[in-house]
Amino acid sequence: MSKLLIVSNRLPVSASKKEGKLHFKQSVGGLATGLSSFQQSHRSMWIGWPGITREKVKEKEVEENLVSKSCYPVFLSKNQIENYYYGFSNKTIWPLFHYFPSYTVYKEAFWKAYVKVNESFCAAVSKIADPDDKIWIHDYHLMLLPELIRKKLPATTIGFFLHIPFPSFEIFRLLPWREEILQGLLGADLVGFHTYDYAHHFLESTLHILGYEHDLGEMVIEDRIVKVDAFPMGIDYEKFASAAKEQKVQKEISKINKKVGKHKIILSVDRLDYTKGILQRLQAFDLFLSRNPQYQNKVTLILVAVPSRTRVEHYGLLKKQLDELIGRINGRYGTIDWMPIWYLYRSLPFHELVALYNVADFALITPLRDGMNLIAKEFIAAKTDGKGILILSEMAGAAKELGEALIVNPNDKEEIAQALQKALTMPHEEQIERNRMLQKRLNRYNITKWAQDFINVLLHAKKLQEEFRAKKLTSSVRKQLVNDYFKSKKHLFLLDYDGTLVPFADKPGRARPDDELLRVLKDIAKKRGNEVVIVSGRDKDTLDGWFGSIHCALIAEHGVWIKEKGGQWETIEVMQNDWKEEIRPILEQYMDRTPGSFYEDKDFSLVFHYRKVDPELARVRIQELETTLLHLTTHLNLGVLKGNKIIEIKNAGTNKGRAAMKWVSNKEWDFILTMGDDLTDEDTFAILPEFAYSIKVGLGSSKAKFNIDSFQEARLLLSELSSA
Ligand code: UDP
Ligand code: G6P
Repeated sequence: MSKLLIVSNRLPVSASKKEGKLHFKQSVGGLATGLSSFQQSHRSMWIGWPGITREKVKEKEVEENLVSKSCYPVFLSKNQIENYYYGFSNKTIWPLFHYFPSYTVYKEAFWKAYVKVNESFCAAVSKIADPDDKIWIHDYHLMLLPELIRKKLPATTIGFFLHIPFPSFEIFRLLPWREEILQGLLGADLVGFHTYDYAHHFLESTLHILGYEHDLGEMVIEDRIVKVDAFPMGIDYEKFASAAKEQKVQKEISKINKKVGKHKIILSVDRLDYTKGILQRLQAFDLFLSRNPQYQNKVTLILVAVPSRTRVEHYGLLKKQLDELIGRINGRYGTIDWMPIWYLYRSLPFHELVALYNVADFALITPLRDGMNLIAKEFIAAKTDGKGILILSEMAGAAKELGEALIVNPNDKEEIAQALQKALTMPHEEQIERNRMLQKRLNRYNITKWAQDFINVLLHAKKLQEEFRAKKLTSSVRKQLVNDYFKSKKHLFLLDYDGTLVPFADKPGRARPDDELLRVLKDIAKKRGNEVVIVSGRDKDTLDGWFGSIHCALIAEHGVWIKEKGGQWETIEVMQNDWKEEIRPILEQYMDRTPGSFYEDKDFSLVFHYRKVDPELARVRIQELETTLLHLTTHLNLGVLKGNKIIEIKNAGTNKGRAAMKWVSNKEWDFILTMGDDLTDEDTFAILPEFAYSIKVGLGSSKAKFNIDSFQEARLLLSELSSA
């Protein structure tokens, strides 16, 4: 039976040593707390760092202990922890991806350690993984791992999920190792993010940096498909919703209630991290108290700050600033019987945390940036009577799903102070109404649903991959094709040119056929029983110039013109040309607004080229242009055709397939080979008889029976047939 391998930097339990004895405790942070409930319900193994330096422990002892908890350790040395964990992970990626470029340290030694540790993780995974296991890698510490595993175990199913934001291209591009990080991630079959924005940023970066385009989040990379999608992480809803019934929690609740008396409780819980906006939050609380003296001695802010990454300079500094600010606010407003802020600098066990969620009237969660923020979701889930208000930063991924909360800009202290005031006066009915909607949503898309959803999409991506593979022209099909060619007598070759026999060039005129290609085509064309038709979108003069010396037929302008062997150019029907006057000015206007584009004026068609246009701009402009053209072309009886980085306008119904029919309908053929690479060739594939071989050059869905990787492969095949 296959298992799920969860791989993350931190294991759900962390080891520590006290008085020479090993201790294990629950790790902090959303990844560990969120996923561990899912892990328990699955046949799985969790691979990660046990949170203690290699030098401090006997590895075997830790390993045995962890394996009994379905965990497997990857040990890190003191030096690796310094450079990979504190260094590249938490001084380079963490600040950069949370939009703190000024905190970001770029250091070669950090990067080298990051590569090394990712390799160690790869070794650990390879040791444990069985061929049919699914591997699910988590978070920013391991972004090179998908590609490393892919190289070692090419057929494995690999998913990757990023728990932090993926920043916009303008931020991501600052990273000196941006190509490596993207390539690393693209080793996965599925790359998941909390929100669609992050997924979009990732796709934008892969397009700009590596030139990979996507279609609805699917990218074709070499001979693989990589899917990118958003999966907002959920929580173990039931666990939080039912916790208040537990005796331990009840006891804690009455303890707190006794202490706070009649005060309204505002709760703030985070790891002590500069991304969480804790200082700004306290400044807003200060503003609120000074503006609303009537609430002094009426509200208490319970501030839980969980120690985190204390060896990173900015965390240490924040701790100091926080201590000072709390001291100042408590000093300014506090009285003998009221302290505005209760400050707990430690990690709370589950029952204490849930008790706080329970008694709090408001949760004030205002990160400056946060991938998701599970605390916000847990607070809502714990509010079984429906009372309570969540004030949430719009910069948290969770804000996308929790629209009924009071959403604020974490930098706007005025707005936060006003939200507090609004919360304090909000009627219970309204609170309940808002929370019930939130609860319904959180209960439905809980942690199990989230993880299951991810795994299902991962399996689907893998299946898609296999379908593509199945269509690949394998050596045995290729052999069969060559055999069929030999056995038959009347052979038809329908060959697209650009992208099929030659690669694309920046300027269309530069993609001339080379001598080797001309020789191969000539050899095939002159054999008895062979007919070669070049089925192109090019204009007829260019085709005449290039293929004049070959005894072949030509189709030009995507089927507008045809020329039989030794014959004259003719159109297959009477073509109109007067529409061009109307369309030309539109193309000119788009050309002026789109640097890098140009248009071509052919006999019966106009073609807008955008190969050199910035891909993002092209995406927007082409959509716009298509819409404009579609409006116009319907009444002019024209067709709009999308090819590889071109958009062509011509008489409706004219296409390569219709022109190729002239040859295909001749019943004498007992062997047909058709090759093409883009949408315009689909019309040719569509009209072929069942026995024909149709091959798409490049991956992607197609009516063709087979796929090959590149134009080189197409030429090799022709060359083999020509030398027969
Ligand atoms: N948490 C905890 N004890 C605490 C504070 C927080 O167990 O004292 C848990 C909390 O239940 C939540 C996680 O830590 O599941 C924090 O996750 P979140 O996504 O909010 O933030 P992260 O730390 O991942 O940035
Ligand atoms: C965030 C990250 C997690 C990380 C957690 C705690 O939630 O996304 O990957 O485990 O913070 O941080 P730490 O550095 O202690 O693992």
